Amino acid sequence: MSFAIEVNGNTHSLDVDGDTPLLWVLRDVLGMTGTKFGCGMALCGACTVQIDGAPTRSCVTPIDSVGASSITTIEAIGATPAGAKIQKAWLDLEVVQCGYCQSGQIMSASALLAGNQHPTDSDIDDAMSGNICRCGTYVRIREAIKHAAQSI
Ligand code: FES
Ligand code: FES
Repeated sequence: MSFAIEVNGNTHSLDVDGDTPLLWVLRDVLGMTGTKFGCGMALCGACTVQIDGAPTRSCVTPIDSVGASSITTIEAIGATPAGAKIQKAWLDLEVVQCGYCQSGQIMSASALLAGNQHPTDSDIDDAMSGNICRCGTYVRIREAIKHAAQSI
């Protein structure tokens, strides 16, 4: 089937099966490999993108459900006000270890900060609970989100 989707402000025309997960459209069709595959079952958060600003697991999002929504990926989150602050905080606090989970972490954290400029520990835990980090960077992630919030 033919689809037209908007990713990072650009419209892309595709010819894929309607049940193709958005993750594979991004990675295999559009060549945008910043969004990662972890579990494929909405359990780890590695594949998180934003759809109309909401953090969304792209591994379980069929392309025919996206419609005219606006998709933002890790490749462009730094162009948003919240994303720029989150990425700077990630660097300032040296959050990353192996890095595999981190694009998903940044997409969830940026969505949180865009909607809540002064998140509490509880807000952060709620927003980030679906993003798993096998390297255990959770403490630095929480501090980086607070650091980013202080810069607003
Ligand atoms: S790959 Fe999508 S949540 Fe794990
Ligand atoms: S930094 Fe390695 S899995 Fe999170």
